[in-house]
Amino acid sequence: EKQGFKHFMLKEIYEQPGVVRTGIETYIDAAWSLENNGTSPIRLGLAPDLLQGLEHIQIVACGTSWHASLVGKHLLEQLANIPTMVQYASEFRYSPSPLMPNTLTIGVTQSGETADTLAALEMEQSRRSQQPDPQFQARMLGITNRAESSLARMVPHIIDTHAGIEIGVAATKTFTAQVMAFYFLALELAYIRKTLSSERIHAIVEEMRQLPAQIELVLESQERYIEELAHDFAETQDFIFLGRGINFPIALEGALKLKEISYIHAEGYPAGEMKHGPIALLDAKVPVVAIAMPGSVYEKVLSNAQEAKARDAQLIGVVPLNDAEAEDTFDSLLPVPKVDELLSPILTVIPLQLLAYHIAARRGLDVDQPRNLAKSVTVE
Ligand code: F6R
Repeated sequence: EKQGFKHFMLKEIYEQPGVVRTGIETYIDAAWSLENNGTSPIRLGLAPDLLQGLEHIQIVACGTSWHASLVGKHLLEQLANIPTMVQYASEFRYSPSPLMPNTLTIGVTQSGETADTLAALEMEQSRRSQQPDPQFQARMLGITNRAESSLARMVPHIIDTHAGIEIGVAATKTFTAQVMAFYFLALELAYIRKTLSSERIHAIVEEMRQLPAQIELVLESQERYIEELAHDFAETQDFIFLGRGINFPIALEGALKLKEISYIHAEGYPAGEMKHGPIALLDAKVPVVAIAMPGSVYEKVLSNAQEAKARDAQLIGVVPLNDAEAEDTFDSLLPVPKVDELLSPILTVIPLQLLAYHIAARRGLDVDQPRNLAKSVTVE
């Protein structure tokens, strides 16, 4: 069943080009083009009134799904211009924000069974059902990999991420599939709200179509190198992951993957926050992984990385292919193809998944069934 892979996690990492391809085939209208753009390029099959006249979006999720939601927030704000809040479901259910009008509430859960996420959605639905003013009516959407789940029964609309069953406890392909769902949703909203020109939508869609081949390239070109690199961390106890902007959630996700399967303490930080505390942790024993992709914060991340280097940290960079500046800054390079900054999380997460996997495998740990963790957390 593992089809020659040593663990399900590695098999699922390798399934990501296919998962991204399936998402594109399912949700992007292949007939849409710049000449034929009278309808939306996106086909989510949602009721039209669900997305009309939105003023706010709030998202509830846990764990890796919460990280995908943070990427989603960036996309919904940047592409569709809708103020978006992302909450931990376990926090939101007991300390909800004041009710906002014309709000879409999105629950993101790959399993569709996470107790806190379901309870947060139930709470939101119930408090809104007591509001007479139609502006405050609940508008609920689920993003899930299980179209038959409790989530799918609870909310009237879902986006099915179609990643196929994930067996490894650490979420990998379901994460990229969730991020893809947010691209589709953000583009649909951008189309409805006319926040992007047809040319820009077309350019993004065309770049999205390149992603499966680009993920394949990252997998093929880097796996051996990352397996080797993992040897360096046999004794390592702490890791820091840095990112900014749309790649800050990827720093969080890289740290979470490492923690849960290798049991190494790891923290993800927005790179600019490092000097406000965590920099005190740095020395030659704490490797720093920085995600530095071309775009609005590239130079900033490089200079944050240099600050870490000045404290003797071993510096690993997730960087664009063939970039001389990055090559000068980092001790080890995990290059990915240059893409539009907004699409980069789909590529930058791949080497971090492989890094966590190989460090854990090298330590001889049970990668697919890490201690104390369950695939879906159906208790509070
Ligand atoms: C991380 C991981 C967990 C889940 C979290 C939410 O690799 O698997 O953090 O992401 O338990 O699970 P779902 O998405 O099923 O609600």
